Amino acid sequence: MSYIEFENVNKQYKMGEITIDALSKTNFQIEKGELVVIVGPSGAGKTTALNILGGMDTATSGKVIVDGKDVTTLKGKELIKYRREDIGFVFQFYNLVQNLTAKENVELATQICKDSLDPDKVLEKVGLKDRKNNFPSQLSGGEQQRVAIARAIAKNPKLLLCDEPTGALDYKTGKQILKLLQNTCRKGNITVLIITHNTAIAPMADKIIYFKNGKAEKIEINQNPTPVEEIEW
Ligand SMILES: Nc1ncnc2c1ncn2[C@@H]1O[C@H](COP(=O)(O)OP(=O)(O)O)[C@@H](O)[C@H]1O
Ligand SMILES: [Mg+2]
Repeated sequence: MSYIEFENVNKQYKMGEITIDALSKTNFQIEKGELVVIVGPSGAGKTTALNILGGMDTATSGKVIVDGKDVTTLKGKELIKYRREDIGFVFQFYNLVQNLTAKENVELATQICKDSLDPDKVLEKVGLKDRKNNFPSQLSGGEQQRVAIARAIAKNPKLLLCDEPTGALDYKTGKQILKLLQNTCRKGNITVLIITHNTAIAPMADKIIYFKNGKAEKIEINQNPTPVEEIEW
């Protein structure tokens, strides 16, 4: 059995008379420690799949196994614990708390997790040793995304889920963030999933999942992932 098994997952959103099939019979597997890129057009179901994986949304039917546990059966406190301790989320627009410093944003996460890492060490690892007492408004977009990544990995999660993490950044800054995520996967031995619009960055991953019309239409295994700094797009 793989570390993550997404098995025949359906997700329907009902809006009055209309039913939207965001995911229909979607299947994919991910191994522990893999770096995975999910690509596909807007509306293909990428965010829905990531949210279901992270316990932020529920599947209409199907199985979602993470580390031997069926996430679709989790409820109440178990579901909160799963989201809090097992999942790190990174969003396009960082989602930082504006009136807390970088370090306080990270502490917000570590204070509620059992096996969390030292906020100072993690901030140093993402290159923000000298900026940790700054507020988000005093930081660039790239630096704010580094805080968000620090906040996610300081929880010491099983999975790091990133939804368009470079969507709001310029080319060079985006590239640095992808490099950080690649390093986080390699050196932190953490399973990392990155949703992107940009197929050009696919070679950075161990596995590329192509989404189309609510399905993982094609899955490629890449035996020789390229270091991000060597990819041009
Ligand atoms: N909360 C929601 N309510 C209704 N429809 C939704 C909701 N979230 C997503 N959808 C629809 O589900 C489909 C897949 O969306 P999404 O997973 O966000 O795609 P992607 O991330 O690939 O752009 C789209 O048609 C979208 O409009
Ligand atoms: Mg999306």
